[in-house]
Amino acid sequence: MLQPGDVITLNGDLGAGKTCFAGGVARGLGINERITSPTFTLINEYDGPLPLYHLDVYRLESPEELEDLGYEEYFYGSGVTLIEWAEQVEQYLPAERLDIFIEKHSEDDNIRVLRFIARGTRYNELAEELVQNDRSGH
Ligand SMILES: Nc1ncnc2c1ncn2[C@@H]1O[C@H](COP(=O)(O)OP(=O)(O)O)[C@@H](O)[C@H]1O
Ligand SMILES: [Mg+2]
Repeated sequence: MLQPGDVITLNGDLGAGKTCFAGGVARGLGINERITSPTFTLINEYDGPLPLYHLDVYRLESPEELEDLGYEEYFYGSGVTLIEWAEQVEQYLPAERLDIFIEKHSEDDNIRVLRFIARGTRYNELAEELVQNDRSGH
């Protein structure tokens, strides 16, 4: 369902499952490489039918360092961008995006609770489509 230019933030504590979720998105996009955490590299790029940009800004000393990364090329480019710990760079995020919050279930460490917050028309439609597909078992 993702399109060129889509931006998704992945939020949640260390170990919540952000990188694991990114791996699922990559598989859905037809990327065959194994997705690894970009915690130390800040960004990993993957080639596929749609390029995937996977950022993890946990180690940024300050939000302004995002400018050195050339973030506009990713956020406003022709691939799909996933950003872990995006709340740290809130002021640079596009106003329209999909925010996903991942938490461990309070009673079972093997279960995750995901909350999707769609910002803007494109992402409201995407979220709606996700719910529809889920209901019809896809
Ligand atoms: N949806 C899930 N259900 C159960 N376990 C998960 C799920 N997502 C991730 N995990 C487990 O949690 C661990 C941490 O996941 P990871 O994606 O590295 O977290 P984060 O990137 O948020 O720090 C993984 O090793 C995996 O075993
Ligand atoms: Mg991670």
